Amino acid sequence: MPGRPVPSRRTVLRTAALTPVAALGAAACSPGDDGAAPARPTAPVELGAEGEVAKGATKLYPDGNVVVSRAEDGTLKAFSTVCTHAGCPIKKLEGTKLVCPCHGSEFDARTGEVLHAPATAPLIELPVRVEQGRIVASPGA
Ligand code: FES
Repeated sequence: MPGRPVPSRRTVLRTAALTPVAALGAAACSPGDDGAAPARPTAPVELGAEGEVAKGATKLYPDGNVVVSRAEDGTLKAFSTVCTHAGCPIKKLEGTKLVCPCHGSEFDARTGEVLHAPATAPLIELPVRVEQGRIVASPGA
């Protein structure tokens, strides 16, 4: 097109370098057509005080994209709350049910199992431990 400036290679590269990482990860809600795995924690995440999750309770940590539950015997389980359908972060916990805002998938927060499609794969389980009274979830294998 005449008169329209053509961006230099440097301009294109600079723009790409400044693109927010979130726009490339969990914030994207369209079905992944590149087959990439959804975003999940890449380093241990300190979630909160151990006492925040009582026996039989479930707590969502939306900033860490993690849900933690404690069984009656005191053991902790943690799952990534990045939806396995298309990678949306799940920010809604109804009792023990996680509800994805993008297409309505539902998951059991205590087991990660799918309760309602379109997701077909369970949530990714994350190793979880208590360090100095704090709950810490780590990236999965
Ligand atoms: Fe589609 Fe969660 S991203 S249901």
